[in-house]
Amino acid sequence: MLPRLPLAGLIFCGLACPLARPLAAAERADFVIDAAHPGPAVSPTFYGLMTEEINHAYEGGLYAELVRNRSLGEDALIWYPVQAGGLAAHLRVDPSTPLNAELNRSLRLEATGAGEGSAGAANGGFWGIAVRGGETYHLSFYAKEPAGGALEADLESGDGRRVFARARFALGGAGWRQYRADLVPRQSAPDTKNRLVLRLTRPGVVWLQLVSLFPPTYHNRPNGNRIDLMEKMAALHPAFLRFPGGNYLEGNSLAERFNWKRTIGDLAHRPGHRSPWGYWSTDGLGLLEYLEWCEDLGMQPVLAVFAGYTLDGHHVPPGADLQPYVQDALEEIEYVSGGVATRWGAERARDGHPAPFPLRYVEIGNEDFFDKSGSYEGRFAQFFDAIKARYPRLQVIATTPVSSRRPDVLDDHYYESAARFRALAHRYDSYDRSGPKIFVGEWATRESPPSPHFDPLAGIPNATAALSDFVWMTAMERNADLIVMNAYAPLQMNVNPGAFQWRPDLILYNAARSWGTPSYAAQVKFNSGRGAQLARVTAPPAQPGLFWSATQSPDRIWLKLANTTAAPLDVHVAIVGREAAPRPDFRLDAYSDTVVVFNLH
Ligand code: AHR
Repeated sequence: MLPRLPLAGLIFCGLACPLARPLAAAERADFVIDAAHPGPAVSPTFYGLMTEEINHAYEGGLYAELVRNRSLGEDALIWYPVQAGGLAAHLRVDPSTPLNAELNRSLRLEATGAGEGSAGAANGGFWGIAVRGGETYHLSFYAKEPAGGALEADLESGDGRRVFARARFALGGAGWRQYRADLVPRQSAPDTKNRLVLRLTRPGVVWLQLVSLFPPTYHNRPNGNRIDLMEKMAALHPAFLRFPGGNYLEGNSLAERFNWKRTIGDLAHRPGHRSPWGYWSTDGLGLLEYLEWCEDLGMQPVLAVFAGYTLDGHHVPPGADLQPYVQDALEEIEYVSGGVATRWGAERARDGHPAPFPLRYVEIGNEDFFDKSGSYEGRFAQFFDAIKARYPRLQVIATTPVSSRRPDVLDDHYYESAARFRALAHRYDSYDRSGPKIFVGEWATRESPPSPHFDPLAGIPNATAALSDFVWMTAMERNADLIVMNAYAPLQMNVNPGAFQWRPDLILYNAARSWGTPSYAAQVKFNSGRGAQLARVTAPPAQPGLFWSATQSPDRIWLKLANTTAAPLDVHVAIVGREAAPRPDFRLDAYSDTVVVFNLH
């Protein structure tokens, strides 16, 4: 069959135009769907999100805090002195004047000199601060200044020439006090080269801690999330959120694991910790914030609990040594899902959320196939037994196959090239259905090799990767009776040089804007709809490069197709067993994918 060339192409293309080259002839693909006999149920949680603190996913990302190094945990100070007139600014971290045992240092600002002037501490945010006119920015900070001086807070341009909003505070009192004000800039800043400055206008000393500036957040949550990023996630219609990792769960060492009890409650008592991805996390986005993120997007939490293995290769031996960690996981589950009459459910209520969160899946560790000691068998068994004894209805996920117990679900991870994903596309078609269900907890096509130099496009999924993602999604959806959940990873990336560690990612952003990658677009398209059951399909035999999946609801069929060949495909679909609106044959272009919906009557 001759390829159908667009008329415009025929008229305007010269010999050098690619359209003038002969195109591969179209192949034909025939599908028959038996609509009277749909197949097994599709997992209702089939598609979701996986998250961890990587690529400044929260700090300088989803967590809307604008002040960087607000609690002084980072190696670099970030804050810098600014001065004007007759005053000089002196700034340093002071370990001898802590706010409390957790935030055990402070920022000491001293103004020296005489006459008119100011001396301040400036913070340029996470690679900039977006200032939007008319929006309310909630400023808060702790200060200790017994002398009764005054402090000025300015949201201003990076050169200090334009002040967008200002608040003034009368300081004083024997100890630490918290101060708050709302800053409402009248106008937007033209760029993100802006800063927050806290200034003394007379000689004196002030100690500062937990200086925080929040713009409006999604659903107006205090201590909440960035609106544009939440909206991008909402558009994916995710059914679950797997958190807190990933490597972030494990940490580089026991001291740096995700220690959930240190991530809840008053921000002033969250010490923060180092992410294994090489930077500081304030834990402002802690366990309760993960759960509220789930609540805001209608996702169910998939809670990964620390299981005694850290990225430095250390493992806690099963038995008495591991028992405190098992107990910690039980208490974490209670914090998430327990009623207010339970010890940890009551703690959650005190933290502001009396209603328990629905919890069905708990994952024991992360990628424990890296633990070459073989201790996961014993560690998994100990967690499994304790969790099942207390919470028999919970589904327990193993991160690598085990024989000591039968996990409910097994978490498989795939970071593969497009060619490899095509080769793997039929892996689950003939998979043993009598064993554990499958969670593809992390997957992504990795096509372009990351550049050694900064190149914002290197490693960002391209069209080839996005088509391959679509292929892999058809492979998973065709097996959505077995694959109960899947999530692309990593989810987020701050594009600033120095901000990211892993590419490709799904959602990219800087201080002002965010973008979905081609892979993001592929997921929005793929997840635009699916039926509650697998459709029964007779597909064309041995059609290399063609990948498909089909699901069915009482009134509709979704057929998803990917063509990875250089030839277009003429597709014919016959629906039998139910009356369906007739659909003419259609053409699937070379290297393209599509979602086709058939209405049933
Ligand atoms: O997604 C990035 C990392 O890949 C995760 O932290 C880890 O689980 C995997 O190795």
